[in-house]
Amino acid sequence: MRRGSVFQLLLLGLLFGAGAAAVAIFIPWLPPVASKERHRIDIVFWVATVICIGIFTIVASAIAYSVLKFRRAPDDDSDGPPIHGHTGLEILWTAIPAVLVTVIAVVSSIVLVKNGRAGRDPLRVEVTAQQFLWSFKYQNKEAEGVTSPILYLPRDESVKLTLIAVDVIHSFWVPEFGQKQDAVPGTTQHLVITPTKDGTYPVICTELCGLGHATMRTHVVVMEPRDFAAWARKQKPPAGASPAQAGQAAFQSNGCGSCHTLAAAGAKGKVGPDLDTLAEEAQRAGKPLEEFVRESIVDPNAYVEKGYPKGVMPQDFGTSIPKPQLDALVGYLVQSAKGAK
Ligand code: CUA
Repeated sequence: MRRGSVFQLLLLGLLFGAGAAAVAIFIPWLPPVASKERHRIDIVFWVATVICIGIFTIVASAIAYSVLKFRRAPDDDSDGPPIHGHTGLEILWTAIPAVLVTVIAVVSSIVLVKNGRAGRDPLRVEVTAQQFLWSFKYQNKEAEGVTSPILYLPRDESVKLTLIAVDVIHSFWVPEFGQKQDAVPGTTQHLVITPTKDGTYPVICTELCGLGHATMRTHVVVMEPRDFAAWARKQKPPAGASPAQAGQAAFQSNGCGSCHTLAAAGAKGKVGPDLDTLAEEAQRAGKPLEEFVRESIVDPNAYVEKGYPKGVMPQDFGTSIPKPQLDALVGYLVQSAKGAK
């Protein structure tokens, strides 16, 4: 090869390499990094990206060089030379990709193993997924026994989530944490998260799970460990809470507001019927208000408001909500329905 050709090839390589690298670096393809696990996943991502940029650079500059250099003259109708096979080249382009794929596999395995380790004493949270809401139950440490529709987490602490699904397959995803984990009925799945950045991030269901799938969202709030401890203390049911407070707490902790509208609770859900018009709905169902409210929670398919599909409301609130909490919730809804009239 002449020196001029080598120079041209190098120039093309520089051009394509710099272009591809700029696209990778200067466009923010991924959300901000907010956990240790996500940081490790990004390492795998960059290893693969750098390899891809290298291959792209070689292939693109070889093609561009060939197109420019070996273009046929307009009046050249002759056949090309009969070339067939090149053992050395074939070995080379088999061996190099094999090595590269092995490198990616090794790096991925190390990250996968590290991301599965929860450490000695993680904060444990049971995550329940059901059509169409998330609920989080803290199982140890300062928040033990607390249930919340929003996932609050202390920064820099290892958290082990245990995911269960009540009805169909759902999938837990926080883009900033970089991990997805399915919740599958009849099994328990685990996910380890070590948040590294304070903030509020979306929790998204990323498995099509029915009519309300798109609304099956909540938030994760990462905070200072001492703020988390303060939050946990506040969640323990205060002694001597009024029935209205207890009812509103039950409304919040069971995530009713993600599907229903209720002015008193500031809820604006649109999946299920408007709870501010419960009185009229009871009339249409032909039942006394309180009986109607209780039945609609415990046995939601007994009467379904016109315009709403059957079987969307979870069927198990009768067993999953403790009796005193259920009574408080019914009382709260009845009171607010009377008030709304
Ligand atoms: Cu749950 Cu989609």
